Amino acid sequence: MTRAPVAGSLPNAYPMYLATASGPPATASWTYIDGLPQLNSQLDSWLLGVLDAKAASTGRRYRPEMALSAGPASLSGPGTTLTGQAIKAAGSFIVYRESEKDTSADGTSTVMSRTFFADTGTGQITPAADLLRPDAVPGINARAADELHPDQRATAAPAVSAMADLVIDGDGTLEVSVPSAQGKGDGTVVRIGPEEAEAALSDVGRRVLSQIRSDAPFSAPAPTPQGLRHINCDLVPCAALTYDDGPDAKNTPQLLAILKEKSTLATFFMLGNNAAANPGVARQVTDAGHIAGNHTYSHPYLTKLSAAGIKSEMDRASAAIKAATGAVPTIMRPPYGAANATVQGVVGMPLILWAVDSQDWLSLNPDVFVPKVLKELKPGAVVLMHDTHAATLSGQAGLITALQADGYHLVTVPQLFEGQALTAGQVYRGRSERQ
Ligand code: NI
Repeated sequence: MTRAPVAGSLPNAYPMYLATASGPPATASWTYIDGLPQLNSQLDSWLLGVLDAKAASTGRRYRPEMALSAGPASLSGPGTTLTGQAIKAAGSFIVYRESEKDTSADGTSTVMSRTFFADTGTGQITPAADLLRPDAVPGINARAADELHPDQRATAAPAVSAMADLVIDGDGTLEVSVPSAQGKGDGTVVRIGPEEAEAALSDVGRRVLSQIRSDAPFSAPAPTPQGLRHINCDLVPCAALTYDDGPDAKNTPQLLAILKEKSTLATFFMLGNNAAANPGVARQVTDAGHIAGNHTYSHPYLTKLSAAGIKSEMDRASAAIKAATGAVPTIMRPPYGAANATVQGVVGMPLILWAVDSQDWLSLNPDVFVPKVLKELKPGAVVLMHDTHAATLSGQAGLITALQADGYHLVTVPQLFEGQALTAGQVYRGRSERQ
């Protein structure tokens, strides 16, 4: 049942991977399709559902901590291998397959898979079983059973079942994947000829077939800005690196080069006066896909200002950042982390503080602040650093390498909190654990 994925050739597909180091032995590799949120959230529900079910024996749900420090080694021995990939794309449809392989202690394995048809025009996803008229299902199942070896027939699950794996080929052939029985390897694919297949298709099935037959070039959905691309931080271990007080004419471009080299996105809490002084650098930050937040105009203790003074600091900073980058900040960080009820009532944005304070400005020594961050960091945390110190920069490559080796996905603040609404005036230090 293994077919070559087409995801590599889709402009809007991006790969994800996780392996557990504690809890249920599992590896998962899948690709999200940018611009298809319904498909991506279906994938997340499936992955979390399986991982939760496997973790149930430990008395707790799956948590991203379980995927830390697993290393790149693939699963050997008993456990679960989850794969999600696009296998076909034509016109406005992507055919996507999820498969689960469970290997038990005696080495036997079971594979189950299902396919979905995602419409890039409407965003809707259709489970494969919906491609068939309900009254045609018994016939397809009987037809599939006929093609199986008699040994398999007795133990095979119905071909069109809760986990239904159907693919329509360009010539109209329907490929039905029959799940394997325990210990019977990878299952079987039964091919049903175009005429017989067409007679069994529902209205949706006919529409999909006409798209796949048309040989139309694949039309990808509009891309999401990089720093807002979907990632699920309940599933993979995430951390958000944040840099305050810039943009700095000398240090910030060097930091951007390091982040680019490490394929890492971050969040920059900019001062309005620095954005006004270095608009080109501010623009480089957001052009590279990073997120710009508001760190006030001139870095005062907001707690010492009147409501009007606080509002002025916020508005002037947002105006300067917008003038430089074209983007209006939607998150803020009060200087010194200093906030009170007045500040919270006036800033008009969520206050993003931090769970881990690197104190990079205090030690000015990577040998001090990098181990501190590595020791204190947990999945979901926001990390405070500054892009105004050369010493901070000299520690970044080592820090990011170590975090990525541990299995951390380094994300922007909006990505870290995706799915958890941020409220203006509320204080946040990291992502809340899944309820
Ligand atoms: Ni600051």
